[in-house]
Amino acid sequence: MKKITIAIDGHSSCGKSTMAKDLAREIGYIYIDSGAMYRCCTLFAMQRGLIAEDGSIDTSTLESLMPEINVSFRLNPETGRPDTYLNGENVEHQIRTMEVSAHVSPIAALPFVRAAMTAQQQEMGKEGGIVMDGRDIGTAVFPDAEMKVFVTASDEIRAQRRYDELLSKGEAADFQQVLENLRERDRIDSTRAVAPLRQAEDALVLDNSHLTIPQQKQWLLDRFQEITASNE
Ligand code: DC
Repeated sequence: MKKITIAIDGHSSCGKSTMAKDLAREIGYIYIDSGAMYRCCTLFAMQRGLIAEDGSIDTSTLESLMPEINVSFRLNPETGRPDTYLNGENVEHQIRTMEVSAHVSPIAALPFVRAAMTAQQQEMGKEGGIVMDGRDIGTAVFPDAEMKVFVTASDEIRAQRRYDELLSKGEAADFQQVLENLRERDRIDSTRAVAPLRQAEDALVLDNSHLTIPQQKQWLLDRFQEITASNE
């Protein structure tokens, strides 16, 4: 059976990556978290002191250093899921902190950052057999993907999920701050000039506000089976 390309886009913290990872594992596809790639660029910029206290970015230095950013994913045998590596170092935990979350949207809005990451993503997915999640996968990275899903849920429900996730990792978190960060990221992601977050016209929409993880997993699997059956 021909392996297809699956693009899963949507708002921050709506559970895209959990569902994309589960689907990829179930159907034997490769999973790529494109947000992790933008988070790596942000961590790199922070480590090099390119983000000032007031949030301003030294874009010309960052642009000149882009060739030094190498992101890869390797399966963690303990979790059965891929961990993110920045220049050979496992940064899976570091890229999920509130500090990185607070700076990632302006970094992801920079056209030269998007051009570099989009090229890497297209290279990773050129053989098909991939589930990639993000904001612009079905619109800009793989506009011809056979299966496109746009996921959303209410702001409060998404903030609660993110807050619970941070607490479970032992990170101090304030619900109001998490909610504000999420709304601000949605605003920047949806209004930027290059590849803004938007639903592709041919995407299937999934509002998972009131779905359990097993229910959304089943919904995705059913859609995958319908699409692969009709493609044969
Ligand atoms: O999915 P996430 O929260 O890990 O994404 C982190 C940030 O990266 C988010 O603010 C939007 C941006 N992003 C993007 O612009 N394009 C993508 N394909 C994926 C993420």
